Amino acid sequence: MNFEDGFVLCRRLLMTLMVVGFSTLTLLLSSCSQQTLPLIEQKCGTCHTATIVYQTRRTEEGWRQVMHGMKIRGMEITPEEEEQVFAILFREFLLK
Ligand code: HEC
Repeated sequence: MNFEDGFVLCRRLLMTLMVVGFSTLTLLLSSCSQQTLPLIEQKCGTCHTATIVYQTRRTEEGWRQVMHGMKIRGMEITPEEEEQVFAILFREFLLK
């Protein structure tokens, strides 16, 4: 193997490493920014994915309406759980 071949090989290797490293990094970053909350997953992730919740911002009044709507659609939730869910929604997903 002459110098030229070695150079090309080395450059290819570097490029591959860079591409792999970059995709790993973006993957890591995107998984960091998407938090999952156990109670939301459990209560709101059965009929649809919980992502629908994470991507929504609403006022307190708006979330109360959504909860009412989900109950009408058949969501089973105890008053205690409902309170906890509201606490999370108002803390994390409030429309300001
Ligand atoms: C019994 C099934 C069920 C459960 C459990 C459920 N949902 Fe839903 N949800 C639905 C259905 C069906 C739709 C979409 C159709 C529609 O809007 O009529 C929906 C749509 C939504 C939407 C988008 C539509 C809108 O009105 O903004 C949000 C936000 C939402 N759900 C939040 C929640 C939250 C928060 C919880 C947990 C507290 C939850 N859901 C649990 C059935 C459910």
